Amino acid sequence: MPDLLVRGGRLIDPGSGVDAPLDLLLRDGRVARLGPDLQADAPEINAAGLIVAPGFVDLHTHLREPGQEHKETVASGARAAARGGFTTLCAMPNTNPPADTPAVIAQVAAAARGAPARVLPIGAVTKGRAGEQLAELATLRDAGAVAFSDDGDAVADAGVARRALDYLADLQRPLAEHCEDPRLAGGGVMHEGAVATRLGLRGQPALAETAIVQRDLALVAETGARWHGCHLSTAASLEAVANAKARGLPVSAEVTPHHLLLTAASVAGSAQAPGGLAYDTNAKVNPPLRDEQDVDACIDALASGVLDAVATDHAPHALPDKQCEFDAAAFGISALETAFGALGTLVARGRLDLATVIERLTVGPVRAWQLDRVQPSGEDLRGLGTLAEGAPADLVLLDPAATWTVNPDAFASLGKNTPLAGSELTGRVIATVYAGATVFNHALQEEPQRA
Ligand code: DOR
Ligand code: ZN
Repeated sequence: MPDLLVRGGRLIDPGSGVDAPLDLLLRDGRVARLGPDLQADAPEINAAGLIVAPGFVDLHTHLREPGQEHKETVASGARAAARGGFTTLCAMPNTNPPADTPAVIAQVAAAARGAPARVLPIGAVTKGRAGEQLAELATLRDAGAVAFSDDGDAVADAGVARRALDYLADLQRPLAEHCEDPRLAGGGVMHEGAVATRLGLRGQPALAETAIVQRDLALVAETGARWHGCHLSTAASLEAVANAKARGLPVSAEVTPHHLLLTAASVAGSAQAPGGLAYDTNAKVNPPLRDEQDVDACIDALASGVLDAVATDHAPHALPDKQCEFDAAAFGISALETAFGALGTLVARGRLDLATVIERLTVGPVRAWQLDRVQPSGEDLRGLGTLAEGAPADLVLLDPAATWTVNPDAFASLGKNTPLAGSELTGRVIATVYAGATVFNHALQEEPQRA
């Protein structure tokens, strides 16, 4: 692969503590050199007027392969990632069959070969994700699972969760918990509150999330295992995580772009999108979009570092899964291609600062799961989430001031399901480089072929 010189941009690399005008030379899939006014006999990317940042790392992506390839494949999800600035995806195991055997982990890894993003598989915690018997966690770890989750569902049985954490403490990999007590959630289809009452929809109380967070944190204190809260969405959950961190427990947590930008009101049609419909099934997601006070708490926790990462919870669905009665619709939002725009919009509104957003999309998630220490398929991931010399040559060019209108028809993702359709967002991914190759270039509006 030829060298590549990224010239003239403002480099923001929070993992290295750098915010300065610097050029970058990429060679053999790594960052070879950085400095002002680099000279090299190499093809150039002109980054003048743009931010250069490490490629984004998503701890929470639903690719639907194997089993639901009409919703997404590893390849289509990786193309969506490239358009969204993500160069590393952690693939959730709720496929069909689920990733509860080394064979499925290997299948996902094989499908990702040659894809325009790195895919790190997450293993299931329990066999069949049924919440009863533990999967063979050590075998899955050896096969390349970087974390464990029954996402889509919590590990609801406290005894099973305790045993899983006992094993994971030895394996040194995190439990990524989908925090939802099924009994408390009670089949609710949106956040329990005034909007649900007005629409006559069954609500899911904030407590359904917080109860599992608190239970798990007690188990972490006992077992010493690493724990990660997926898509946290309530003020009370964040307070519990903040307390656990203050006590020195090995915990981390993520929030989605939609839980930072939208409230339950989106379900009632008051999304930013003009003409947004009431009972908008594209705003049906789990955990549900919450109220203003929870959104404010999420933004504060992201700014303060109680939340380590923004993760997309990219959950692509097919049209019939959403074009139906609200109660019957699938939960989930196709989010890879709008993530940076959603966050940039909050930056433009003065709610978050750009360097923090970049940190939580890059080195924040890497540190949360120590991804720079894993070696799936033998790749050396030292420096992942940074642009330090020797790091993987994964980067993104950003225009934080550019405005654009979300058009799901233009998504590379097969999932067109987003409540942001028609919304104007601020902040745009201009180009994405993965392993030294340009995998997305906005000017071309296409994904250049990789060698
Ligand atoms: O909205 C959601 N969709 N939440 C989840 O936890 C699972 C996900 C999916 O797989 O569709
Ligand atoms: Zn989940």
